[in-house]
Amino acid sequence: MSAINYSEKIPNNVNLSEDRTLQRALEQWQPNFIHWWDDVGPEASTDMDVYLRTAVSVDPQGWAQFGHVKMRDYRWGIFLNPGDANRTIHFGEHKGEKAWTDVPGEHRANLRRIIVTQGDTEPASVEQQRHLGLTAPSNYDLRNLFQVNVEEGRHLWAMVYLLHKHFGRDGREEAEALLERRSGDANNPRILGAFNEETPDWLSFFMFTYFTDRDGKYQLCALAESAFDPLARTTKFMLTEEAHHMFVGESGISRIIQRTAQMMNELKTDDAGKLRAAGVIDLPTIQRYVNFHFSVTIDLFGSDESSNAATFYSSGLKGRFEEGKRTDDHVLKGLTYTVLHVQDGKLVEKEVPMLNALNEVLRDDYIRDSVAGVERWNRVLDKAGIPFRLKVPHKAFHRNIGALAGVKVAPDGRVVSDTEWQARVDEWLPSAQDRAFVGSLMGRVVEPGKFAHWIAPPVVGINRQPVDFEYVRFN
Ligand SMILES: [Fe+2]
Ligand SMILES: [Fe+2]
Repeated sequence: MSAINYSEKIPNNVNLSEDRTLQRALEQWQPNFIHWWDDVGPEASTDMDVYLRTAVSVDPQGWAQFGHVKMRDYRWGIFLNPGDANRTIHFGEHKGEKAWTDVPGEHRANLRRIIVTQGDTEPASVEQQRHLGLTAPSNYDLRNLFQVNVEEGRHLWAMVYLLHKHFGRDGREEAEALLERRSGDANNPRILGAFNEETPDWLSFFMFTYFTDRDGKYQLCALAESAFDPLARTTKFMLTEEAHHMFVGESGISRIIQRTAQMMNELKTDDAGKLRAAGVIDLPTIQRYVNFHFSVTIDLFGSDESSNAATFYSSGLKGRFEEGKRTDDHVLKGLTYTVLHVQDGKLVEKEVPMLNALNEVLRDDYIRDSVAGVERWNRVLDKAGIPFRLKVPHKAFHRNIGALAGVKVAPDGRVVSDTEWQARVDEWLPSAQDRAFVGSLMGRVVEPGKFAHWIAPPVVGINRQPVDFEYVRFN
């Protein structure tokens, strides 16, 4: 079951050839996907040979194969983790019942919405990252960008397969619409806010892959618990690819910090102007990018109190992060959870039914995880003997969704006046000047082994290749 059939037009491990109607429908969608890739995928990349990892099996060992391929010829396909015929639902009102191999009628609309919302983020990020190849800081980084891009393309395939197989005509229409929306388009934007933001430079790209791909991890982990077994199995396999995206972000930021710290020690200064003049990104600017990407990303978890979240959980559609490791009753009736809201100009805690607070539960799990990586960045500063520490902002900072939307809160969690916010926003979020400065550093470096001035080389290459390996060949 886990072996992938590459002899077919659409590589898959779901016996696609046994379902002619489905196969034909997906083969009709395939050229539209390629059109989309050509239209808004990585710019000017058609002739490049890229050292990509391709899934050849979903077994935990050895599912990946590396080799130079043209991205257009990447074998996007449909891969589900192996199923367990005896799997039971382990949370919500259907707890103990057999997991579903098809969509129960009463949950159809909600499941479709969940799958479409997840699916929409995948092509969106490819669109957001479309121009970055033109300013890659190295051949190695260019390859990593493209690896992320092709895998997001495959994640779109994963969701489109579910739509086509389980949702009939509605599903086929949704699959088309996934190729029609465009990130940042005023008339037909992507569904979620963070996926309509620009990713104009590589500092933003690394922040995005660190923070926003990690949102992907948490959403996928919650869906991997789903009572709808095909969704659980699909998302489990997507998670194996997501880990690399977060690695790209974490190591990218770490290398930027390393370079800045080195220059701070060389010049014996922490003056932002002097460091910028020396061509590296000052730490307060990096902090402002952290503030921006963290706050925009935690909005993706949705409203702190949500009856939809309760319905999704109780009906078994979406679990919690690591549901199986939790020791409560997995039904959650009568339990409460703490959320924040503003009262008399102060942030105050409020106990609400946990079922309604499951977005907040997932957000808090995410926050714990993202803080850990920021601490690893701080160790780079520590090792260089620099006292500056990066910190994620308070979760009420710069929010646009839920009870905290629009409340003016400083990164340290103080509710502030409009006047203070206006006066200090450029200390807290990237200003136009910050973005212009970071933009001014971007220039293409693609000679193997060479790196842009503002970023340190990685310690090791990809798949045990040397750092100066020709990961991307230009033809
Ligand atoms: Fe993805
Ligand atoms: Fe990703």
